[in-house]
Amino acid sequence: MRVLSVKNYDELSKAAARYMAAQLTLKPDSVIGLATGSTPVGMYKELIRMNQSGEIDFSEVISVNLDEYKGLAGDHPQSYRYFMNDNLFKHVNIFADNTFLPDGQIEDDLQACQDYDDVIDCVGPIDMQLLGIGHNGHIGFNEPADAFTTGTQCITLDERTRQANARFFDGDMSQVPAKAYTMGIGSIMKAKKILLVVTGAEKAEILDKALNGPVTPSVPASILQLHPDVMVIADEAALGI
Ligand code: GLP
Repeated sequence: MRVLSVKNYDELSKAAARYMAAQLTLKPDSVIGLATGSTPVGMYKELIRMNQSGEIDFSEVISVNLDEYKGLAGDHPQSYRYFMNDNLFKHVNIFADNTFLPDGQIEDDLQACQDYDDVIDCVGPIDMQLLGIGHNGHIGFNEPADAFTTGTQCITLDERTRQANARFFDGDMSQVPAKAYTMGIGSIMKAKKILLVVTGAEKAEILDKALNGPVTPSVPASILQLHPDVMVIADEAALGI
C-alpha cells in the first residue's frame, strides 16, 4: 500500500486525477470503478478539464459505480446516477451506454444484486477502482459488519451514514433512503488497482484505523491492507499531520 501525502484538497484532486489519467493513457479502454460522495468531486472537475483540453479520452472507457440508493430513480437529484451524470459523465466524452450503476428502482433485492454482479462479471475485471471512505470505515456502502461482503448487497444504512448523507437531502433525514445497493467488498478487492482518496481532519481517526489497525469487517476499509496495489492519496489533515 502506498500513501501519497498532499497539502490540501486541491492538491489531492489534482494528484488523484493525474493518477487516473495515467491509467487511461496506458489503457484507453480501461474499466474504471467510480465513487460518489464529496471527496471525488474536485478530482472529477480536474478530469473534466483534462478531457476538454484533449489530455485524456473517455471514448473507450467503461465505468462501473460502487453503489446506488434503493428506491431512487436515476433522474432523482440525490440518486448516484444523477450525481455521476452531473459531476462527470455529461461533461466528458464517455458513452452513456458504457456507464453502469446498480438500478435503485429494482424492488427485488436479490434480482438487483444479481443483475449488478452480472454487469461486473461482463465488463470486468475492473482496472482501477476509486474509493472514498465513510466515517465508520465503509467503502461503497459496505457498512461495518460481522463479515466482509463478497458480491453486490442490499445494505441497511447505518444511522451515522444516513446522518452524514442528509446534507445532500437538505438536512432532512426522513428523505434519506434506508437502504442501498452496493458492490461487494469481494468485487472491490478483485480490481487490479485501487485508488483511495481521503480529505479532512474528521477522517483522520478512521483512516488511521483502516491503514494501520487490524484487518476486520468492523472497519471495512481495513481489508485494503491485503490488496496488492492500493494507492492512498490523502491530505495532511486526513493523515493527522
Ligand atoms: C457515501 C458513499 C461512499 C463514500 C462516502 C464518503 O456513503 N457511498 O462511496 O466514500 O459516502 O463520502 P464523502 O467523500 O462525502 O465523505
